[in-house]
Amino acid sequence: MRDRYTITERLDHGGMAEVFRGVAESMEGFKKNVAIKRVLPNLTKNQKFVAMFLDEARLSLFLQHANIVQVFDISRTPDNAYFLVMEYVDGCNLKSLIERQKQKGRRLEIAHSIYLMIECCKALHYAHSLEHPETNEPLGIVHRDISPPNILLSKNGEVKLVDFGLAKANSQIESTDPGVVKGKFSYLSPEAASGIEVDHRADVFAVGILLYELFTGRRLFYGETDYQTVELVRQARVPSMAARTTRSSSPAPRRWSARRWRATRRTDISTPPTWATRCRSSCSLAG
Ligand SMILES: Nc1ncnc2c1ncn2[C@@H]1O[C@H](COP(=O)(O)OP(=O)(O)O)[C@@H](O)[C@H]1O
Ligand SMILES: [Mg+2]
Repeated sequence: MRDRYTITERLDHGGMAEVFRGVAESMEGFKKNVAIKRVLPNLTKNQKFVAMFLDEARLSLFLQHANIVQVFDISRTPDNAYFLVMEYVDGCNLKSLIERQKQKGRRLEIAHSIYLMIECCKALHYAHSLEHPETNEPLGIVHRDISPPNILLSKNGEVKLVDFGLAKANSQIESTDPGVVKGKFSYLSPEAASGIEVDHRADVFAVGILLYELFTGRRLFYGETDYQTVELVRQARVPSMAARTTRSSSPAPRRWSARRWRATRRTDISTPPTWATRCRSSCSLAG
């Protein structure tokens, strides 16, 4: 890794991998900021896991979209630690933004939340409909882990999905050690929670869960234990948003009156820079 990539800081670590910020230097001396995701050493010995990581990493090389973190390279260190090199997103993830807003007793504005989810949907629509470039066969890509830590917000207001194609590997970890990914169960679809094979609808369901959380400031499916959370997902009972919306300094509307809808529609939620600018400022708040 040292030949071409220099690590500058560790950004995060989870049950499967560590993510670093680094610099890629080309032969001509050009430098570029990158993010490097390295499989944890204890998993490098797990052949099945490594095979899955590589399959999924290859898949992520197909993905080229403004709302998906671009993967540039897949390689391994001399001591066999596999790593991915990605574009570096200078900003924060949605989880830290939600947490910071909660600490302040605030919620994101409705149009801002919708903007974030529209950007996620653009990425999902692209990935879900992607075909193999040579055979034109549908690739059947499903992210399977649409959740706040996997939604990155850049300081320029961009919204980018990360962990694409690694989700299958992640779900493998979940089934072996639920404690490692505690909290992720909240964004499962009922079919995933029941162990049934999922398709693209599982990702769309997760976007719905996120919208609910952003609008109300409350998790939709969240039990005291992982088991309870999975049970809540299976039942898929969705409490009324109005009933769960509490007062705060930036409250979501108690009732979506016709006036409120008109006001939301008047705001052009799909056009930067208005909402991209909001993203930018929220990102600095979450830091
Ligand atoms: N390309 C990136 N640029 C900036 N930060 C990143 C990038 N990729 C991941 N991160 C940070 O690392 C965290 C974990 O990354 P992720 O790929 O989701 O790993 P894991 O498989 O452990 O969930 C993200 O929530 C984000 O905060
Ligand atoms: Mg992740």
